[in-house]
Amino acid sequence: MRVLVAGATGAIGRVLVPLLLEAGHQVTGISRTLAGAERVRRQGASAVQVDVLDRDGLRQAVAAAAPETVIHQLTDLSDADGKATDLLRRDGTRNLVDAARSAGVERIVAQSISWAYAPGESPADETVPLDIGAAQPRGGMVEGIRAMEEKAAEMDSSVPLRYGILYGPGTWYAPGGAVAAALAGDSDAHFLGSIEADLSVMSFVHVADAAGAAVAALDWPTGPVNIVDDEPAQAREWLPVLATALGLPAPEARSGRQSWARGASNGLARSRGWKPEHTTWRSGFAIQRA
Ligand SMILES: NC(=O)c1ccc[n+]([C@@H]2O[C@H](COP(=O)([O-])OP(=O)(O)OC[C@H]3O[C@@H](n4cnc5c(N)ncnc54)[C@H](OP(=O)(O)O)[C@@H]3O)[C@@H](O)[C@H]2O)c1
Repeated sequence: MRVLVAGATGAIGRVLVPLLLEAGHQVTGISRTLAGAERVRRQGASAVQVDVLDRDGLRQAVAAAAPETVIHQLTDLSDADGKATDLLRRDGTRNLVDAARSAGVERIVAQSISWAYAPGESPADETVPLDIGAAQPRGGMVEGIRAMEEKAAEMDSSVPLRYGILYGPGTWYAPGGAVAAALAGDSDAHFLGSIEADLSVMSFVHVADAAGAAVAALDWPTGPVNIVDDEPAQAREWLPVLATALGLPAPEARSGRQSWARGASNGLARSRGWKPEHTTWRSGFAIQRA
């Protein structure tokens, strides 16, 4: 299948491109930079240098690649810039979907998140509504997710993959990453924000399992699917394990819980045949080097 990957150089994209090639797909990857495009070519895929916020340029690029499916792995988080990512989810997705539809593409698989669900006590499945109307700054993030998934749904077929917190090579949680730096006291602690309150529950997913899900989802039916490991966990459980894996002292306990921090269940993805190689962060945090 001809597949266009927007976000081919990101934490998931750079693992995804080789997986798609191995599965026999013809891949074109998008990057804003020459260096990014060259990186994609070195992986054996075609590449196009374009900014998805450039509507006309993107339309031409998508038409030239003539994909059968678009995979959207776009975020703007290298500087932890939530607002830039909200904009990309809204305007970047609008441009990508419009360009894809005008090129006759019917299908999109898109990167979403599994912690935008309405508050609750148990891990959320895909029937739980999004947390629309949440207070800021969470509200802006949820709105960006809603806009992204809603725009993607204009395609004949759309599968938002609601990923857990990514860990593994190239992520904030890997050695040298921003969370590791914050745990070591080397950087602004905003990377250790509200999810680290002791009783908050989050779901994780290793970046390799996240990429594998995007390949698997190429023939899944329309609708959102949580892509998370098997063990949603409170911060008081996972933070000490992460610190040990990074060779750092465990941080001090922080009391409290965010009501929306409930984790997510992967039953639907598993029912479709996807299963995480890294079933739990307990063992996975130790396997994060590239
Ligand atoms: N679920 C999660 O927990 C989650 C999800 C995503 C990211 N993160 C965290 O955020 C960190 C940074 O993410 P990342 O490494 O994936 O980098 P990123 O800066 O978020 O970029 C992701 C991808 O989007 C592309 N992109 C961004 N803006 C674009 C635009 N206007 N036009 C075209 N392409 C655009 C980038 O391409 P170019 O830069 O090559 O143009 C890159 O391929 C990760 O290390 C990870 O820990 C977490």
